[in-house]
Amino acid sequence: MFIYKAAVVGGGAMGAEIAQVISYSGLPVILKEVNDALAQKALEKIRHIYQGRVDKGKMTPADLESKMSLVQVTTRYEDLKEVDLVIEAVPEKLDLKKQVFKDLDAALPEQAILATNTSALSISALAASTKRPEKVVGVHFFYPAHVMKLVEVIPGLTTSEETITDAVTFCESLRKFPVRVNECAGFLVNRLLMPYLNEAAFCVEEGSATFQKVDKAMVEFGFPMGPFVLVDTIGLDVCHDVVGVLLEEYGNRMRPAKIWGEVHSKGRYGVKSGAGFYNYSGDGEDKTLEEIMKKLEPGRPSKKAPFSASRLLLTMINEAALCIQEHVSSPSDIDLAVLAGIGFPQAKGGILQYADQVGIDAVLSELEKLNEIYGDRFFPAPLIKRMVKAGFLGEKTGRGFKEHL
Ligand SMILES: NC(=O)c1ccc[n+]([C@@H]2O[C@H](COP(=O)([O-])OP(=O)(O)OC[C@H]3O[C@@H](n4cnc5c(N)ncnc54)[C@H](O)[C@@H]3O)[C@@H](O)[C@H]2O)c1
Repeated sequence: MFIYKAAVVGGGAMGAEIAQVISYSGLPVILKEVNDALAQKALEKIRHIYQGRVDKGKMTPADLESKMSLVQVTTRYEDLKEVDLVIEAVPEKLDLKKQVFKDLDAALPEQAILATNTSALSISALAASTKRPEKVVGVHFFYPAHVMKLVEVIPGLTTSEETITDAVTFCESLRKFPVRVNECAGFLVNRLLMPYLNEAAFCVEEGSATFQKVDKAMVEFGFPMGPFVLVDTIGLDVCHDVVGVLLEEYGNRMRPAKIWGEVHSKGRYGVKSGAGFYNYSGDGEDKTLEEIMKKLEPGRPSKKAPFSASRLLLTMINEAALCIQEHVSSPSDIDLAVLAGIGFPQAKGGILQYADQVGIDAVLSELEKLNEIYGDRFFPAPLIKRMVKAGFLGEKTGRGFKEHL
């Protein structure tokens, strides 16, 4: 199905940016908000993004006006009756989203696709609140949506292949990199990222490294920023919610390090609150964090592994293997997702490409060693064991997660 006109419901942090991305691709877009003031605010935000491009000499003022003419705002669902695809971006509350889906189902033409930008809610549950469950799909943009290239396209239990293809093609037309992710808690990026961030926290909590040492090691590996700077940037509150969802679904292997809860409970949400794992208030002294570290000291494990960058990466490799096993995503989409969504070093080609370079037998032996010390969170994915038995050892045997000709 060709998308001639799209809509976005909710013009907050994500919705306004998504509407900008759609208009930038040359497609008319209508943005629905709850009242005129918020609709105008969203419109201003879209203009502000374009103005940034004009200021950098990347577009002319005339181009700006031409793109803005593609954007309409409204407060009424009736105005969405001619759109082919809508992206819902209202706050992350299931009941609210279900109501929005019911209203969209009633207002939009029957062939229209209803997409959601939810970070963690079930696509299948949202689909069930409509009379067109085969037309409901997750289209998960990353913040800031006008910058980040990755979009997770998430079919639910009832989404048709046609809807998935249309959603993927639509994202490509926006010059994004869509990856198909079959529905699971955390989808793909958060599911791979959180164990990595959590391991960073365990290393510090147990006294194997300082925050600075961990961050420096991961930057040296090639990440644009270390895990603690990343959490402080995303927001500890946001990460805390995601970790909760993962723990509920996957159990003990996603058990968060205690330090997360301690820092979170002090209202330290990261850059936006002035402090998180680091202090951004400028006074240098950070008694609170010192006290947290002291409080956690008695709980430190007696047996522990030394800190290494590979310890953090192994959690990501193992989770990626579980995702492949569960048919959540393909190896090439997983590598694209970590490159475009997590900032994995481009030169290393992605987490699975990296695992293939290291050798799958070496990955398994390291996981087994760490599993003996730490238990569940390093329990090797059965796929990794199977690959080693079959001689799929990575680059050195021509085949691992990927083929190496
Ligand atoms: N902020 C992020 O970093 C981020 C990243 C990826 C995905 N998401 C997801 O995107 C969605 C939106 O998040 P956000 O951060 O933009 O939220 P937000 O609170 O900034 O914006 C939500 C907007 O929706 C509007 N709204 C509420 N009910 C509405 C209705 N019935 N009709 C029209 N508009 C309505 C609100 O007025 C508000 O402006 C959530 O599901 C969130 O999980 C957020």
